[in-house]
Amino acid sequence: MFSQKVLDIEQETIEFRRKLHEDAELSFKEFHTTELLISELSKFPGLKLSRPTKTGVIASLKGSAGDGPTIALRADIDALPITEETDVPFASKNPGAMHACGHDGHAAMLLSAAKLLASEQDSLKGEVRFIFQHAEELPPGGAIEMQQAGVTKDVDEIYGLHLQSGIPTGVFGSRPGALTSATDRFDIKVIGKGGHSAFPETCVDPMVVAGEIIGSLQTIVSRSIAAVEPAVVSICMISAGTAYNIIPGEVNITGSTRTFSRETRAKLPGVMERIVKGMCDAHGAEYEFSFSEGYASVINDPELTKIASGIIKSTFGEDHYREIDPLMPGEDFSAFLLDCPGFFADLGTFNGDPKYGVPHHNKLYCMDESALKYGVQFFYDLVKARLS
Ligand code: NI
Repeated sequence: MFSQKVLDIEQETIEFRRKLHEDAELSFKEFHTTELLISELSKFPGLKLSRPTKTGVIASLKGSAGDGPTIALRADIDALPITEETDVPFASKNPGAMHACGHDGHAAMLLSAAKLLASEQDSLKGEVRFIFQHAEELPPGGAIEMQQAGVTKDVDEIYGLHLQSGIPTGVFGSRPGALTSATDRFDIKVIGKGGHSAFPETCVDPMVVAGEIIGSLQTIVSRSIAAVEPAVVSICMISAGTAYNIIPGEVNITGSTRTFSRETRAKLPGVMERIVKGMCDAHGAEYEFSFSEGYASVINDPELTKIASGIIKSTFGEDHYREIDPLMPGEDFSAFLLDCPGFFADLGTFNGDPKYGVPHHNKLYCMDESALKYGVQFFYDLVKARLS
């Protein structure tokens, strides 16, 4: 079960989370949060701090028991553009900024883990890198900025947790392989030749071409992607036209795709453009096509998933780990996985009280803080297991 050390600092973990909660800051603007983290981390001997990006901070702890792997633990630290409407005494003092996704809890758990592990530097073989990452909520995101700054270049394994109001307190949910979807955006412009609705023969009607494109794009998932491979192509915006009797000159189509595997994600833009081009060629229209990548999918390494879930089960019991379905929301933890294998899991914060069941990204979001000690214990056990 819990180590006495973790329980001894439980209240401190909660207090720190509340301090962050009160001063919620938006993505890329987490200046107070970063300062506060630096001032706390500086109190723990053995940690070397660095700040490769404007906000966010990295703390590195080199074990003095010998050589070993480098493992990274990541917490995100940003809030959302929401004005809080809960009645907690530590509600955000900043209108238009609220920790409505629980990242304050992520930072607090990691800070407490850093404190405990720093006090055991003598027994660790290798390095632990604590990543307090900014701007998870706003693409292109803080993770890719840190990854490009080299934060995970020499890391062997990376781990992260996300608190989750949809799961019971203290239960971890994850899965090997694809955990979150990649969400990308596409924009198509069909360029025809407008004119009088009575004389279509003098026009290239982009409406008709767009209609065929919309229908044909739906064949991608059914005909070009394997049936066992999840993918979604959704057309969500379409605009054209100015009057009932004018054939417009162009049609704009915008939508999003969701995929899990890297291969399927990489395949989609080419297949989509081939269809758009084919339809436009057939009717003498022109086109513009763009595909913008959002966050990639988080792909859990099967071996690390086995190790991490084993640690969770042996510390808290079999029923504290659940294999869950892939999650549709994006998560920029995936950027770090460009450099090393990793494991990411949800940690439940729902104790049955309806106020803790409010979904994330909501002005009434609340967290059962008794879940935080599970995250601290997990990080603590994991590092001890990997660096001993
Ligand atoms: Ni989040």
